[in-house]
Amino acid sequence: MANLKIRSYDATDLESCRALWGELTQHHRDIYDDQSIGGDNPGLYFDEHLKRVGPERIWLAELDGVVVGLTGFILEGGEAEVEPVIVTSNSRGDGIGRALLEHVKDEVRKLGVSMLSIRPVARNAGAISLFHDFGFRTLGHIDMFMELSPDSERVWKSGLTLHGHEFRH
Ligand SMILES: CC(C)(COP(=O)(O)OP(=O)(O)OC[C@H]1O[C@@H](n2cnc3c(N)ncnc32)[C@H](O)[C@@H]1OP(=O)(O)O)[C@@H](O)C(=O)NCCC(=O)NCCS
Repeated sequence: MANLKIRSYDATDLESCRALWGELTQHHRDIYDDQSIGGDNPGLYFDEHLKRVGPERIWLAELDGVVVGLTGFILEGGEAEVEPVIVTSNSRGDGIGRALLEHVKDEVRKLGVSMLSIRPVARNAGAISLFHDFGFRTLGHIDMFMELSPDSERVWKSGLTLHGHEFRH
């Protein structure tokens, strides 16, 4: 994309980043059919992320001067994790997500870090499809959980198997 630019975070980007984080939450609300995910002001999770990783580990995608995407990474224990990667809903499917991933990969490589991970929720099939195609082909830890509350209203999907075992997601 000729007019796509990936640039560093600047303090004036705060509201755009909060809005993009809100879009990430909305995507999770939609795929889990649960509009309560993320609480009343999910955009504020961006502020926590910013505090945790610092502005030098956050980048924005700008298309024709308009912010359309956000990415970054967490560096811990000598390993890097892409977090987050978000493209605004009406610009998805045009290669911006892939460009953001390329950018993070290059930045992490520059630090000499040899392992890069990403942690989508198991139900985020679209994102998993992109990440797999991009090169995330190795599985590390798997989060396995059980519900302890009998009145949970979540409807789980079936159809994922690992080592021959069936999981809901
Ligand atoms: C995941 C995301 C960042 C990808 O950004 P993007 O700019 O749309 O990605 P690209 O255009 O580079 O790649 C598109 C590919 O992503 C995959 N994909 C992403 N979302 C998809 C969906 N809802 N359904 C099917 N495929 C999807 C497909 O493999 C697609 O390939 P195709 O265009 O050949 O079909 C973007 O969809 C997004 O912001 N989603 C909501 C937030 C989110 O889920 N972030 C990841 C959390 S871990």
